[in-house]
Amino acid sequence: MAKKKNELSRRKFLSSSVGAALAAASLPLLKTGSVWGKPAGAKLKVALVGTGVRGSSLWGKTLIAKYSDVLEMVGLCDINPKRMEYAKNFMGAKCGTYTDFKQMIEERHPDTVIVTTMDSFHAKYICMAMRMGCDVITEKPMATDEKMTQDIIDTEKKTGKKLIVTFNYRYSPEAVRIKKILMSREIGDITSVDFNYYLDVYHGASYFRRWHAFKQFSGSLLVHKATHHFDLMNWWLSAEPVEVNAYGILRKYGYNGLVRNVRCMNCPHKSTCEFFWDITTNEHYMNLYVKAESEDGYIRDACVFQKKINIWDTMNVQVQYHNRVTMSYSLNAFMPYEGYFVGFNGTKGRLDARIYHRQPWKIPSLADFRITHNFKKSKTSSIKSGGSGHWGADQIMQDRIFRKPGPDLLRQHAGSREGALSVLIGIAACRSIEQKRPFKIEELVKI
Ligand SMILES: NC(=O)c1ccc[n+]([C@@H]2O[C@H](COP(=O)([O-])OP(=O)(O)OC[C@H]3O[C@@H](n4cnc5c(N)ncnc54)[C@H](O)[C@@H]3O)[C@@H](O)[C@H]2O)c1
Repeated sequence: MAKKKNELSRRKFLSSSVGAALAAASLPLLKTGSVWGKPAGAKLKVALVGTGVRGSSLWGKTLIAKYSDVLEMVGLCDINPKRMEYAKNFMGAKCGTYTDFKQMIEERHPDTVIVTTMDSFHAKYICMAMRMGCDVITEKPMATDEKMTQDIIDTEKKTGKKLIVTFNYRYSPEAVRIKKILMSREIGDITSVDFNYYLDVYHGASYFRRWHAFKQFSGSLLVHKATHHFDLMNWWLSAEPVEVNAYGILRKYGYNGLVRNVRCMNCPHKSTCEFFWDITTNEHYMNLYVKAESEDGYIRDACVFQKKINIWDTMNVQVQYHNRVTMSYSLNAFMPYEGYFVGFNGTKGRLDARIYHRQPWKIPSLADFRITHNFKKSKTSSIKSGGSGHWGADQIMQDRIFRKPGPDLLRQHAGSREGALSVLIGIAACRSIEQKRPFKIEELVKI
């Protein structure tokens, strides 16, 4: 009976204009069939560009350990040869290493390239790989500005190659619960959303120690981080953003600090700075970054109070969607706890979800949900805990990419269109802050 009801809800959803439009859209799965259309027994040839912490772990060590029966790592590329050599051993890879991407593709002929570099180089490698005949899997954000976004869309169209954007948050248990509640239409048509995301003084601060602290590399947290959140919202609502208005300011990090040094490791303010972070206690990071500094000068434990930091730590964004839904979003990067609150206002009631990622008091659960019907009582539910790797999401997503290509009932797979629509909210928010006016998505890119 419950199954029948769900099927009816799904049919009802698909018959709505947005649901129908989504169902008609082609699945962004690279190829259908066993594993990506490879004949039985043939392995998918994969090359990786960007052998930093994410590349060497989820897309390196995990991939090789868990999926070697269906794929083969045929090449690694990074601009830092020392980091790449350490990463290769860490992953247990047997393939060749390259500092020249083109040479790697020409010599190793991968079917698929995985892009896990610094954000501002994603578009360059995505487009090069597609032009050289490869499909691509990219970490988020797909691109950091409007020109790169347009290049990817045009190159994908021209080459016929396919792109997967790895929005792992779509696979986390609380995000899936929210999607199912909204698809059931229990609270009617959604009219507006309140979405507040809190990064804490550990995780939030970490962005200000790394390349992420500079717009030219990360596009700012409105692109680098919020692409996850905007993608979730686009997916939850099954809607496309039309117009964005935003405010952003730097209130805690960067020039706000009273004292500063180049980095934590040799800082004279170690004993008094509340943001002191000791990288020497992390052997993996010492090998990956500190021992590779001689090659590119990249300092992984840079001071969060560097004067040249040019991203915001306090951001507010309003988004209007094509179906008249409006969203108010905030992102704060120096909060005492981490997680998010999201409230969906519907014509029949409201859904509140509180997600606790880290907090200084005992965590009651991973997520609490409350559905309140108009003129009636509330009902609550919770998810007690998630798995490892972004609450279990990383592994589910990799399985879906490499082993279980469908059916995709919740439409969790994301391609260039989803990648574009999420970064474009962030890019439009940046332009809105810089030019002090609302920005229409269509002013930035033709999708
Ligand atoms: N989905 C998630 O939850 C998640 C989590 C962490 C990181 N990421 C993404 O993974 C990517 C990598 O992040 P990270 O934390 O591993 O950063 P990192 O700094 O550890 O690694 C980036 C790597 O890119 C290399 N690189 C920089 N410029 C390059 C270039 N022009 N050509 C080739 N290599 C270049 C660097 O040398 C470094 O090894 C980022 O795009 C980030 O957004 C996603």
